[in-house]
Amino acid sequence: MRITIRVLAALLLFVLVASIFYFSSRTTLAPVWLDNRGKPIQAHGGGILKVGDEFFWFGEDRTQGLDPTRKYVACYSSKDLSHWTFRNQVLKLSDPENLGPGWLVERPKVFYNEKTNKYVMYLHLDDKSYKFARVAIAVSNTVDGDYHYLKSFRPLDMESRDIGQFIDDDGTAYLIFESRPTKGFVIAKLSDDYLNVEKQMSLVPKPLEGGALVHYDGLYYVIGSHLSGWTPNSNVYATSPSLEGPWTEFKDIAPPEKKTYDSQSSMLLKVVGDKTTTVLFMADQWEPKALWDSRYLWMPLEIGDGKLHLPPPKSWAIDVKTGVVTYKNRLWN
Ligand code: GAL
Repeated sequence: MRITIRVLAALLLFVLVASIFYFSSRTTLAPVWLDNRGKPIQAHGGGILKVGDEFFWFGEDRTQGLDPTRKYVACYSSKDLSHWTFRNQVLKLSDPENLGPGWLVERPKVFYNEKTNKYVMYLHLDDKSYKFARVAIAVSNTVDGDYHYLKSFRPLDMESRDIGQFIDDDGTAYLIFESRPTKGFVIAKLSDDYLNVEKQMSLVPKPLEGGALVHYDGLYYVIGSHLSGWTPNSNVYATSPSLEGPWTEFKDIAPPEKKTYDSQSSMLLKVVGDKTTTVLFMADQWEPKALWDSRYLWMPLEIGDGKLHLPPPKSWAIDVKTGVVTYKNRLWN
């Protein structure tokens, strides 16, 4: 009898310690974000393009059970940044450069080119060991596809892995890409038709990926994550008055022990309302063993006067007309 009580007590203690451990390491796991069909949104490593008053969210579609020889990008639309309608699996690509099993497509970003009236998708295209290190381009006449593969290349002849997109207030389009051999990342202007990467603006000498950029109140703020693969780390930011630099030293965007609340930067979205301007931090909470179940951490940033801070995640909503954010004062939902 005594033994049974001891065994039970030990078991209870074990469960208690294990759950404290589990919950303290994952207190910030975002809930599953469902689309209009009630299915989890599949737009990982994504980007947003605004067309008229509609936002389009593109990202890696990691749905289970898809044809493993293909790679997919999905597209969703929304007018309030909260309710998303599934539009289309806009890219269903077969290995375009003979990269072999395990080839991959990551971090799709779509730009709209006014001159050619085309939607231009940039992708990170790679083989399973990440040696190919190129960008690829796919093009469509309509925002929600289908997108057709055009080509792959190394931007400015440099290796390119994680990519980010930035459209400045004057409409100029830029690609951010990580260039490992130079131990830095590059901010580069696209060509007139967006089908090439034309001009280096900055080579920021800091080994960072997940690059994201925003122009806020006369300053450029760039965010990146350290190179730790799927494992989260403390993302950092720097500022500059010009895209050509000089950039300040990098600082953590949140308390470093929080590891960006278990997330990795993907994009900074500026919502200019008629009352205020809000900058949203869009990030992925990766689940490497179940990528389809990776979550999204989106939070309004505290930003201004050269400072940027990611507050602890909680539930919020934005009025995209005014730009004003309201908080629900509870975690997530
Ligand atoms: C991350 C990167 C992801 C993916 C992953 C693979 O650092 O941002 O897009 O490439 O590494 O380990």
